[in-house]
Order: sequence, then C-alpha cells, then structure tokens
Amino acid sequence: MDSQDISLPEGYKLQPGYPSTSHYLDLRSVAGLSPKTPSQAAAIPTGSWFGCYITFEATKGDPQPVGMGRIIGDGGWYFHIADMAVHPDHQRKGLGDVILKALLEHIHRESPADGKPYITLLADEPGRRLYYKNGFVDAAPGQLGMWLK
Ligand SMILES: CC(C)(COP(=O)(O)OP(=O)(O)OC[C@H]1O[C@@H](n2cnc3c(N)ncnc32)[C@H](O)[C@@H]1OP(=O)(O)O)[C@@H](O)C(=O)NCCC(=O)NCCS
Repeated sequence: MDSQDISLPEGYKLQPGYPSTSHYLDLRSVAGLSPKTPSQAAAIPTGSWFGCYITFEATKGDPQPVGMGRIIGDGGWYFHIADMAVHPDHQRKGLGDVILKALLEHIHRESPADGKPYITLLADEPGRRLYYKNGFVDAAPGQLGMWLK
C-alpha cells in the first residue's frame, strides 16, 4: 500500500493491517455494527487477505484507530470487502473513501493480471453512496445477496 499517495486530513495516518482486537470490537460497536466476540475478532489478522486502518493522533495519548476496512479473499479472483467502519466523530472527512480506495488498489495491484477480480460486499445503508461512487453496482436483480440466518 502506497500510503504516501493518499491524501488524508492532518493528524490521520493510513496503515496496512488491522486494529487490535479490543480496538476492532470498540470500532464496530461505536460505528453501529453488530457486536462480535473477542474470539471471533482474533481470527481477523490470520484469516483476512488484506486490511488497512487509519489512526488519529490526538493531542494526548497514543494514536487511536478511527477507521478500518478489510478484505476476505483467496488472492486469486474472489475478494469480499468487510468491516468498513469509521468512528462517528471522524466520519464525513473522506476517511471511508481513502480506506475503500486503498483496499481496491491493493486488489488491483496484487491479484493476477490475467483475469478480472470479482469484488463483492454487502452494503449497509450508510456505505451505499460511497460504494456507488467507487464503481460498485447493485447485484440485484441478476443476483441477490444472501446470508444464513
Ligand atoms: C460508511 C462509512 C464507513 C463511511 O465513512 P466516512 O469516513 O464517513 O466516508 P467519507 O467521509 O469518505 O464519505 C462520506 C460522505 O462525506 C462526504 N465528505 C468527505 N469529505 C468531506 C469533507 N471534508 N467535508 C464534508 N463532507 C465530506 C463524502 O462526500 C460523503 O458524502 P455523501 O455520503 O453525500 O456521498 C461510515 O459512515 C460508517 O462507518 N458507517 C457506520 C458503519 C457502516 O454502516 N459501515 C458500512 C458497512 S457496509
């Protein structure tokens, strides 16, 4: 990931990888996503194909993760974007866009050049405009996203 090329507001830094388990759980929860357990979160660094997150350097204390996204994929052709989340205090500053573009750039750079990657996500309402702006289209009516209840 070429983070120097991506412009972020002052105090923010994009890095490859994933927030710690506790930061991850907090970030999902504060962003309004469904809660997960520490054991579920522990699988993220080894089970994901790629991820990135943004830290914010506050005046006091260590930089805190305030946004993230990750890809579950086989590295060949199938890539699923998950956990797009930005802390509400830091939303609408372009962080979600930077994260999504970094994920897409990584897929395009690292996946085989002799085929088109298949990139999916399930779009909750808050992310839809961001996804449309970055080239995603509805799978329906040709296909319908599903999950096992
Ligand atoms: C979806 C989500 C990740 C987007 O993160 P974000 O950092 O707010 O995204 P961005 O700032 O890049 O874009 C959001 C909006 O802010 C606008 N924006 C970007 N920079 C801005 C700025 N400096 N000033 C004002 N508005 C700005 C964008 O144009 C965009 O506007 P639009 O929605 O009208 O198109 C975030 O809203 C979130 O975490 N939501 C809750 C969790 C969730 O539902 N995640 C999606 C799961 S599928």
